[in-house]
Amino acid sequence: MGKSVDLKDTTPGYWDNYNNFQRVKHDLIRNYLNGWFPKLSSWHGKIVYFDTHAGRGKHSGGQYGSPIVALQTLMEHSFRDRLLSNCEVLFAFCEGDKGNFEKLVAEIDALGKLPDNIKINAANVDCYKQLGKALLRLEEENKELAPAFVFVDPYGFKMPGSILKRLMTFKRVELFINVIWRELNMAISNGSKQEGMAKTLDSIFDGNVWRDLVPLNSEERSEGCMALFKDMVDAQWATYIYMRGKNHATRYMLLHLTNHDDGRDLMKDCIWKVCPDGGFHASVTGLSADEYLIKPEPDLRPLQNWVIKRLGERPYRWQELLQDVRSKIWRQKHLNDVVRSLRRDGIIDKRDHKGKFHPCNNPELFLIEVE
Ligand SMILES: C[S@@+](CC[C@H](N)C(=O)[O-])C[C@H]1O[C@@H](n2cnc3c(N)ncnc32)[C@H](O)[C@@H]1O
Repeated sequence: MGKSVDLKDTTPGYWDNYNNFQRVKHDLIRNYLNGWFPKLSSWHGKIVYFDTHAGRGKHSGGQYGSPIVALQTLMEHSFRDRLLSNCEVLFAFCEGDKGNFEKLVAEIDALGKLPDNIKINAANVDCYKQLGKALLRLEEENKELAPAFVFVDPYGFKMPGSILKRLMTFKRVELFINVIWRELNMAISNGSKQEGMAKTLDSIFDGNVWRDLVPLNSEERSEGCMALFKDMVDAQWATYIYMRGKNHATRYMLLHLTNHDDGRDLMKDCIWKVCPDGGFHASVTGLSADEYLIKPEPDLRPLQNWVIKRLGERPYRWQELLQDVRSKIWRQKHLNDVVRSLRRDGIIDKRDHKGKFHPCNNPELFLIEVE
């Protein structure tokens, strides 16, 4: 690892507060890794969890930060021993502030002896310099990177797009980025008038495509920005959740970028878990999924209408609809529920399959003509 730095934490008060934003962020990491660890470890001898802005490891109120959340997810995983019998899991943590870094190391030490196949590489470095050097080495030596989940969680909106782009050229790398939207949005508004800001934005978007966002209204702009990040790193899927403040304005967006269908499905499932009413947004004061007395149910009517519209065009195989629903916010389970209920209600029917009415048997679905 590189030379120690002391970048001085610019927002030390962050550690005295633990609100729903942090909880949602950590719940998403925990739930995602819970599925990601066993899936990737069964195919690869080494996988990596990389926390670029690792922080202190613990808030003043005792809640754990992302590095410890990630480590505990593996330590407490029901398949832990099986998973580690064939795979080494490397946890790489970068933290710029010396004091934070020392606290993080103490939190890791407090976990006690870890199983042999869990490796930790924690460093008091500037993550972007560190990543730049590591990428250069890999590129020069024409080497592959092990499958990696890279969590990028800065305080501010400045992150070099070229680094993210180079990371994603390794096809098994996934990014999970905390996009500090309020500040980035302001910067985009000012960028066309201020040369210095324009340069910063050129670096974030690895080019001047951000200028296309300037004339857009606020909703189009945030959606457009997510699409620009997706295109910039050439990811197949971008899945995101809006984190809204008390006035309902977007403060942050948590953006997941992957080239794998399974990663897309898993992140969608995780987002539904943290906001069960399906809006793909969380508020600063929201409840955690466990705190609902009556868990909100998603309103599946828009999905029902989507299925009816598709089948109005032509019959579809069940699996075709499942493929197509991947690009929507709906889960595959929602689609299966809707298909079954439309058939029960006599709106659609099936043909050309053997066995149970089940997606695996892939019947052709069609709309029943009304006389
Ligand atoms: C939002 S906090 C991280 C929170 C942590 N990911 C969590 O969820 O518990 C941001 C951290 O990044 C550190 N930091 C800021 N710039 C950095 C850089 N260029 N390289 C590494 N760490 C940096 C700060 O000192 C701070 O501890």
